[in-house]
Amino acid sequence: MQNLTEKVILVTGASRGIGAAVARSLAAAGAKVIVNYAGSRADAENVVSAIREAGGSALAVQADVSNPAQVIRLFDEAIAQYGRIDVLVNNAGIMITKQIKDTTDEDFSRMFDINVKGVFNTLREAATRLADNGSIINFSTSVNRIMIPGYASYVATKAAVEQLTRVFAKEVGSRGINVNSLSPGPTNTELFTQGKSEEAIARLAGMSAFGRIAEPEDISRIVCFLASDEAKWISAQNIGANGGMA
Ligand SMILES: NC(=O)c1ccc[n+]([C@@H]2O[C@H](COP(=O)([O-])OP(=O)(O)OC[C@H]3O[C@@H](n4cnc5c(N)ncnc54)[C@H](OP(=O)(O)O)[C@@H]3O)[C@@H](O)[C@H]2O)c1
Repeated sequence: MQNLTEKVILVTGASRGIGAAVARSLAAAGAKVIVNYAGSRADAENVVSAIREAGGSALAVQADVSNPAQVIRLFDEAIAQYGRIDVLVNNAGIMITKQIKDTTDEDFSRMFDINVKGVFNTLREAATRLADNGSIINFSTSVNRIMIPGYASYVATKAAVEQLTRVFAKEVGSRGINVNSLSPGPTNTELFTQGKSEEAIARLAGMSAFGRIAEPEDISRIVCFLASDEAKWISAQNIGANGGMA
């Protein structure tokens, strides 16, 4: 396990799914964790309680990442509590899968507001407020590499995240901050399983080299490495975490 003692880490969208597992794994490795959520307050408080019961330190902070004022407040509250933020994990995201002909203006805008503007909002704050020698991990997806009908708008948001990552890495590198994107393959969370038949899930599981989908902990272990000083020389990269699917 990585040693993340002394690191203060902000995880967006950490009330459920991959983000909750990331928060728990980071805390188990010694980090102080800010558990951000948009609406699932009880879930976020449960993540915080579990971390505290295991001897760790965590704080739940509500903020909709698509709202710039709320993101500023999120940074304010995190820094007020812990004095600084060393690592930002941009995990919050939504997925609406519809073929383009069926996608509404609202579907398209919601995904771009949360998945792209949300990342932009936190990066803009991090540019001046993340601690020197910090790290940033932005969530993309391995679905970017396999063209599945119905995923066009979603993968367009994640392609934008990957580009933000590559350029931003050059903008903050002089402060010792490394910035990467992480692209999970299908992972056992509500975002992935909702609306899918068992056959559809089995078909996607069969595309990995291991014949299964990921559990959130398969992804959170990789985030722990990327958040550690050992990963410092990796920057401006997109890292696939998909069990060999793509
Ligand atoms: N699961 C997969 O197969 C998979 C594969 C590749 C990439 N990903 C990416 O991994 C990330 C996490 O996905 P997941 O599967 O864990 O999703 P999930 O189970 O649906 O959880 C999403 C999390 O994001 C939060 N969130 C949503 N909108 C938000 C907003 N506007 N502001 C702040 N937080 C917000 C939710 O909090 P509330 O409940 O409080 O709204 C929740 O904690 C996403 O970026 C997703 O695109 C997932």
